[in-house]
Amino acid sequence: MASRYSETYGEWKSNPEAFWRKAAGEIDWVQEGTDVFDPDLGQYGQWFPDWECNTCYNCLDRHVENGRADQLAVIYDSPITGQQRTLTYAELLARVEAVSAVLQDKGIGKGDRVIIYMPMIPEAVIAMLACARLGAIHSVVFGGFAAHELATRINDATPKAIIAASCGIEPGRVIAYKPLIDAAIEQAAHKPESCFVFQRPEQVASLEEGRDFDLGVLMETALAEGRRIPCVSVKATDPLYVLYTSGTTGQPKGVVRDNGGHMVALKWSMHNLYGIDPGEVFWAASDVGWVVGHSYIVYGPLLHGCTTIVFEGKPVGTPDAGVFWRVISEHKIVSLFTAPTAFRAIRKEDPEGTFIEKYDLTHFRSLFLAGERADPETVKWAAEQLKVPVIDHWWQTETGWCMVGNPLGLGALEIKPGSPTVPMPGYDVRIVDDSGQPLPANTLGNIVVKLPMPPGCLPTLWNADKRFFDAYLADFPGYYKTADAGVMDDDGYLSIMSRTDDIINVAGHRLSTGAMEEVLAQHKDVAECAVVGIHDALKGQLPCGFVVLKSGVEREHAEVEKELIKLVRDQIGPVAAFKIAITVDRLPKTRSGKILRATMRQIADGEEYRVPATIDDPAILDEITEALKSHGIAAS
Ligand code: COA
Ligand code: AMP
Repeated sequence: MASRYSETYGEWKSNPEAFWRKAAGEIDWVQEGTDVFDPDLGQYGQWFPDWECNTCYNCLDRHVENGRADQLAVIYDSPITGQQRTLTYAELLARVEAVSAVLQDKGIGKGDRVIIYMPMIPEAVIAMLACARLGAIHSVVFGGFAAHELATRINDATPKAIIAASCGIEPGRVIAYKPLIDAAIEQAAHKPESCFVFQRPEQVASLEEGRDFDLGVLMETALAEGRRIPCVSVKATDPLYVLYTSGTTGQPKGVVRDNGGHMVALKWSMHNLYGIDPGEVFWAASDVGWVVGHSYIVYGPLLHGCTTIVFEGKPVGTPDAGVFWRVISEHKIVSLFTAPTAFRAIRKEDPEGTFIEKYDLTHFRSLFLAGERADPETVKWAAEQLKVPVIDHWWQTETGWCMVGNPLGLGALEIKPGSPTVPMPGYDVRIVDDSGQPLPANTLGNIVVKLPMPPGCLPTLWNADKRFFDAYLADFPGYYKTADAGVMDDDGYLSIMSRTDDIINVAGHRLSTGAMEEVLAQHKDVAECAVVGIHDALKGQLPCGFVVLKSGVEREHAEVEKELIKLVRDQIGPVAAFKIAITVDRLPKTRSGKILRATMRQIADGEEYRVPATIDDPAILDEITEALKSHGIAAS
């Protein structure tokens, strides 16, 4: 089939407002407005400014009303606990209404923030939708973050309540969440009024009288009483959620997602980009704590009337490298979306794909990869093994959906290994130099997007308009700065090469080296430090910290290094995967005092590097090389 991509992209470009008005026809609105876009509102304009809606209604009620009541909405598959559970659309709606009732009884309503700290269990999806139903703004925090990170988010979002599970389960260990929550509330200046805890049998939490409530018990009571809670109408521009993501400092950025534009964009993407029809089973093997989980475990599939998978496990080790194929085959999944790191892990365990042969994958049509660079070797292996198109696509927490991809629903375009293909409608992607001048094809530069950003993208940062402007809009007036660098070829295919800031990507998780440096600097023996992301064959990148100790510190370096590793794990969390701390005598700097992080990374990765002309003392680079070698890292 010839692709309709060019025609569709052209249709958007010639009249963006007409394009998105048509896409908005797929959503049930409480009130349709007159304007599709108001350029004078907010930071760069706002979509659907005078429209009213409810996201939960579009995810659940309308499907129940229109014949999907008995279709599965959620399949929970948890190899880590050996459990499976399903919820039809009607059952999911009843549970969401029950939790809405529980929240409403404690005074939570439109505009209130609620932090959700839960593992991959259906109750996480229920909690998110219950907030959406009430017009409350949820902020999901990934379970791999430690108490301090949770406290930072509590202070910024000032939630009225926290919804949590008693524990998460990682291979070989149960993580009690309640002590982390208690510690976070203790640390935070803001104190949430209530904490709803879903008790899991693996570790039951003790509850504090008056503040803590057993969510499961309250939900079952509300269910038994048949509590019905109507959807609260909100403005399309009202926030649906705030999702914190790594910035360049220890203070994460609260990415705001609105209700209306978000629904329009995700609904459009389900068929046109992912090639999925309502009623089909779609699996995003991510976590509800990340943007992929928000958009494609919860909202996208449910808006589209699909069945979504809540998978609590890992690509390998739960119990083996065949678990993805078992899940795909058992639940008749048509499309999988995951991070390349998952495939690197599977390939490492099962290079010949022997597990794949054991399962019937006849329903499986496509694999989508995102979250980090999809290395061509991994893409090639996956395509050969699975015999389906393997589609790399590029996006960010900020955008909420794909900027550059290969639109299967419009008809697949030729795949060029190493490129996530072409811009989606809504995104006018350009490559510019540091002064904002356009660069010719095949030239590496800053990737920017012409404003306005399309529906679904962040309108601003939570309570931080100026930070939003400074971080994204100030450097290239009229454009959104993606902070990625890349090239566009003569056919308009984009390749993403690297970040232009100090964000690194570890197992598809976005992490700030600046935030890790702030933690290392707190250690009493550390004078200065630098963290860089070094290449890792499995996780893509790993953080590597260099520290200079204060003069007079006589302790064993190995002992301090161990403490530093523990400090990052305790402060940021295990997800930081910070396991390399190296003591050095001096850090390489320019004469003006700027630490040469890029050169240190090149040395660690064994890449050729040029000694920067502005370096203060070139001998320090040899010291770094030796230090890396002594820690078993192949340095150039
Ligand atoms: N709660 C608590 N801890 C968590 C956690 C959670 N929800 N998720 C991860 N962690 C812990 C892990 O147990 C690990 O701890 P450890 O240092 O004690 O081993 C640490 O955080 C690092 O996690 P991660 O980098 O994700 O590695 P992993 O060991 O969990 O998984 C692979 C490694 C190889 C399987 C990896 O390839 C993978 O698939 N990761 C998940 C990718 C993903 O979902 N990305 C989301 C974007 S689409
Ligand atoms: P996150 O906000 O966690 O989704 O991370 C976004 C960042 O991950 C982007 O800015 C890129 O640096 C990187 N990224 C995401 N998808 C891709 C991709 N398909 N190819 C290369 N890098 C990617």
